[in-house]
Amino acid sequence: MWLIHSSIGRKLVMSISGIVLLVFLLFHLSMNVAAVFSAEAYNTICALLGANWYAVAATVVLAGIITIHFVYAAMITLQNRKARGRDRYAVNARPKGVSWASQNMFVIGIVVIGFLILHFSQFWYKMMFAELLGCHEVTLCDGTTVHPQDGAAFISYYFSHLWIVLAYLIWYAALWFHLTHGVWSAIQTVGWNNQVWLKRWKVIAYLVATLIFLGFAFVTLFFYAKSLCGESCC
Ligand code: HEM
Repeated sequence: MWLIHSSIGRKLVMSISGIVLLVFLLFHLSMNVAAVFSAEAYNTICALLGANWYAVAATVVLAGIITIHFVYAAMITLQNRKARGRDRYAVNARPKGVSWASQNMFVIGIVVIGFLILHFSQFWYKMMFAELLGCHEVTLCDGTTVHPQDGAAFISYYFSHLWIVLAYLIWYAALWFHLTHGVWSAIQTVGWNNQVWLKRWKVIAYLVATLIFLGFAFVTLFFYAKSLCGESCC
């Protein structure tokens, strides 16, 4: 199977899975921005994406794509290390035009996945998974009980804790670095890489990564600010 054994096949799988994950991120971001404007609208979306068969099927597909993206990243990193052999221990200055992110994609990816596990434990596990188990309420650490489809309540609760807000901002920063190189590299691999567009795609990759960073940071900081001023702001 050339998609596993050839280096271009592996890169193609990485790129296509990365582009699908990027589309998910843009969808997820627009869904979360809705929470800023209306808790009811957000909870309606959460109910639609709850433990319904199509949402569970989409989650399984998404988990498969994340796994493929990670396993192929590990294979490509190992292959590159093998190819470089002893040279990887030499102390070389970063070549001109090569970004820090492009040289550290696997490590940054591991940081992103690490925070994703924290995120799942706070949201997916207490929402979709709790619903699948038949729970009608989930108890949070402060003792309050929340319905698994009340996404707005989960966001308000978690983003009222400073350490969680800071952890999420670090996560978004790691994601920013990952996307600045990832988006550009994926586009290049699928073939849209003529000389004129190469530079433009780089700019577009930075714009997309920055939009995603700012969007998620906005939602997170909005709910943190709201928690500080309580009811008096509303
Ligand atoms: C403001 C920041 C964010 C908020 C408020 C948020 C909110 C949520 C919520 C409420 C769920 C559970 C949905 C459900 O099970 O019904 C969820 C799931 C998920 N989130 Fe986030 N999220 C945020 C940022 C992110 C980021 C940055 C990523 C990726 C890097 C991400 C990836 C995921 C994934 C993969 C799932 C599982 C989706 C599924 O079940 O199909 N989230 N998120």
